[in-house]
Amino acid sequence: MLNAFKQAQENKYAIGAFNVSNLEQLKAIIQAIQKLKSPVIIATSQGESKFIGKKQIRALVDVYKKETGLPIFLHLDHGKSLEVIQEAIDAGYDSIQFDGSELSFEENIEMTKKVVDLAKNKGIENIEGELGYLQGKSSLQEAVEIEEEDLTDPNQAEEFIEKTGVTSLAVAIGNIHGIFKSGQNPHLFLDRLKEINNKAGDKVFLVLHGASGIPEEDIKKAVELGIDKINVNTRLRLAYTETLKKFLQDNPEQTTPYKIMPLVVEAVQRVVEEKIKLFNSDNKL
Ligand code: G3H
Ligand code: 13P
Ligand code: ZN
Repeated sequence: MLNAFKQAQENKYAIGAFNVSNLEQLKAIIQAIQKLKSPVIIATSQGESKFIGKKQIRALVDVYKKETGLPIFLHLDHGKSLEVIQEAIDAGYDSIQFDGSELSFEENIEMTKKVVDLAKNKGIENIEGELGYLQGKSSLQEAVEIEEEDLTDPNQAEEFIEKTGVTSLAVAIGNIHGIFKSGQNPHLFLDRLKEINNKAGDKVFLVLHGASGIPEEDIKKAVELGIDKINVNTRLRLAYTETLKKFLQDNPEQTTPYKIMPLVVEAVQRVVEEKIKLFNSDNKL
């Protein structure tokens, strides 16, 4: 997996990490990467992995990996306890995130280091830490103010990486989870990203969460400035639920799931394809 990140870093593209909790979403992502020849990360949050099952998503990803021969990595998104991290390791996840961003800087270092030791011991290649305060949830929501003090501090980032040994770092640079109801989310603090990359870009792979609502030109610049992995969830959730709602409104008599879901899969696939092109990871295999 680190080789895939290295390729992305050297060739100025980012690998998309798309969240799933069911087979239809996974199918949509796989169809998109087959068409666009892109590496991909399948991510499950704590809630998503609880719903689909960690062993179950591992088995499904393995089936698609074998069938397509494509680099598909399974990642635990925002793991917040040692227990959940352990479950993901036991289920055979390729990659995990420990999100200690709600802890103090010192506690975050201490816990993340524990996770790095545990995961490295079990042969997990990629361990992502998080530093800075990222607001919002992966849904449509009211606008929030982003304070400069919430952003990742470049000096702290350097210290965090040295003391924990993480291989990837999620940064707060004006990004939030979810999409403002009013439309687009605020611009990124790209100068801050530049500073973080200058301090830490050669020691770690940089991760941008909350990409659903970020203006497209900012995403492109962020990739240019060293972002190697980009997380998308809300946009996929909206494509899924809006298409499903409309289909059921238009076809109230339809009760056959395999006749209801194709349009939903298509809608999610379209979003994944758009994002892959935006991240410049198409035609890389
Ligand atoms: O950032 C968090 C994930 O996108 C989704 O988390 O399943 O708790 O909504 P959730
Ligand atoms: P969005 O829901 O804003 O796309 O963020 C996804 C994310 O960061 C998952 O970790
Ligand atoms: Zn996130």
